[in-house]
Amino acid sequence: MNKKPIGVFDSGIGGLTVYRAIKQRLPRERVIYLGDTARLPYGSKSESAIIRFSEENAHFLMNHEVKLIVVACNSSSSYAVPHLQASLKVPVIGVIEPGAQAAVELSRKKVGVIGTSATIMSGAYEAAIRKRNPCLEIVSRDCPLFVPLVEEGWVDHAVTRMVAEEYLVPLKKVGIDSLVLGCTHYPVLSKVIGGVMGEGIRLIDSGVTTAGQVDSILRNLGWLNHDPPDSEDDFYVTDFPDRFRRVGGIFLNRKIARVSVAGN
Ligand code: DGL
Repeated sequence: MNKKPIGVFDSGIGGLTVYRAIKQRLPRERVIYLGDTARLPYGSKSESAIIRFSEENAHFLMNHEVKLIVVACNSSSSYAVPHLQASLKVPVIGVIEPGAQAAVELSRKKVGVIGTSATIMSGAYEAAIRKRNPCLEIVSRDCPLFVPLVEEGWVDHAVTRMVAEEYLVPLKKVGIDSLVLGCTHYPVLSKVIGGVMGEGIRLIDSGVTTAGQVDSILRNLGWLNHDPPDSEDDFYVTDFPDRFRRVGGIFLNRKIARVSVAGN
């Protein structure tokens, strides 16, 4: 098991924030990444579509003999993780439970949750936070324009700052003390989001806490890879590899050399 890769999937490019966190924490693990770029965004899709797409993504990764699957997409994690856990023979980790755990550890009284419309509508973060601490107050809102702004490369841009103010000032006004960045793309906007929220409000990147959970699960199973990986990580998309290569650079701060189309 130790030498087998970790499988990571997302609706597209955003899951690279989770990929990056996993590689920082576990540089010896080889990763197979699948971005379902043909069907993104998931954040505006229905529960049944998201579950179906997620199952197909997971089967693609299983065919590559992964030892564990990380559902990097918050929208997929909100709906599909229990289905995948019930049907697959490898551990499946989503980003919601680790993000909720971090929220409970870092928040004192009132936590904000932002995400896609699908994630916020699912109530998954709220349920996961309440399960751990029923006394924490939770305020959530969807911020659908953040994803296209990041994909446009408008990371530090006047328009993005205006949109961030529109979405986030109401959360600031109700007095949240921490904010869960409940979407793969939002950590890329940490500077803009942090600028609007101000210094006292902690930003929670669920990718980082998810990487910690991957580490502890593999460690407990004795499945960590202790040698340098035999080969490079593989990146697959379901459409438009050139765009993934180009926009992916924004997420990783480096070029992605090879991106293949899944099934080819
Ligand atoms: N990956 C998605 C998420 O974290 C954002 C992009 C999309 O809507 O597909 O929810």
